Amino acid sequence: MLVAATELPLPLLRRGKVRDVYSVDADRVLLVATDRVSAFDVVMRETIPFKGAVLTQITAWWLGQLEGRVRHHMISASTSEIIAEIPALAPHAGELRDRVMLSKRAEVFPIECVIRGYISGSAWKEYAAKGTLAGEKLEPGLRESERLPMPLFSPATKAEAGHDENITVAQMRGIIGDEQTAELERLTRAVYEYGLDVARGRGIIIADTKLEFGYDPDATEKFDPSAVILVDEVLTPDSSRFWPAASFEPGRPQSSFDKQPLRDYLDAQRRTGNWNGESPPPRLPEEVVRATSDRYLEIFRLLTGTPLHTGSFD
Ligand SMILES: Nc1ncnc2c1ncn2[C@@H]1O[C@H](COP(=O)(O)OP(=O)(O)OP(=O)(O)O)[C@@H](O)[C@H]1O
Ligand SMILES: [Mg+2]
Repeated sequence: MLVAATELPLPLLRRGKVRDVYSVDADRVLLVATDRVSAFDVVMRETIPFKGAVLTQITAWWLGQLEGRVRHHMISASTSEIIAEIPALAPHAGELRDRVMLSKRAEVFPIECVIRGYISGSAWKEYAAKGTLAGEKLEPGLRESERLPMPLFSPATKAEAGHDENITVAQMRGIIGDEQTAELERLTRAVYEYGLDVARGRGIIIADTKLEFGYDPDATEKFDPSAVILVDEVLTPDSSRFWPAASFEPGRPQSSFDKQPLRDYLDAQRRTGNWNGESPPPRLPEEVVRATSDRYLEIFRLLTGTPLHTGSFD
């Protein structure tokens, strides 16, 4: 079932570009990944079949493996388990199928923990212009998309509206504290290095990713590293740049695994003056929607080694 937005019988905490977040009780939240898709920070009118389920189930797949390495928020990503736990959701079973995650509620640190193993996107633009990233000097001579000698932790603030802003690690310390910063950087590196390794074995380069962390609201006042948990989505194509390893070649931009058909279409619309890059976006042809959906399903299959059981959708 295609889902653009949900209306569940729980208090809605926020509707993000992609996810609807509900309050379950004081300790738990329900994250619902819809089939909405955004490109260039604009949410499209069309929905992408299976996208929400792919995002939730990829996150669940990674969190399952990270069990014992990194504390995280997932309680369950099984729709039937969640419905057994929250019976009021039963009438919504069809639309929720595979796209919901029941999670521990956390106070989310106001920082996007970005880590880059390869230099691309906004990082490449800044480096090409000034030789820096978030104001910090990088070694000279790097080419676009090149692998960095060591993954670079480059945090950003979580902007309420508009674009997130890159900040230095020193600025991050000023916002959340020294020990908190050290712990978030350590965990970000651990998750990324683990993910990079696993994905490489499946033919996918995770060029960079963004993680979010939260703090157990019941923890004592003094900072307790064991109260930090990984929240939100994890190593998905929406929070990361996934590149096919087979066609990787530094010195140029790489095509992104998932949204390339969509980006190519939108770029063409801009070039021909049919779209100004702002909301409202142009309507997407059926082939573009289909091609984008196929890419999400393909990533799921490559990464996890099994197809998303598309049969369970109605
Ligand atoms: N365990 C959790 N407890 C509390 N909040 C969480 C938890 N996990 C994720 N969140 C929050 O839920 C929201 C997920 O929604 P989503 O990613 O769609 O929107 P967003 O990131 O806020 O905005 P957008 O993606 O539109 O820029 C995020 O604000 C995230 O910080
Ligand atoms: Mg988000």
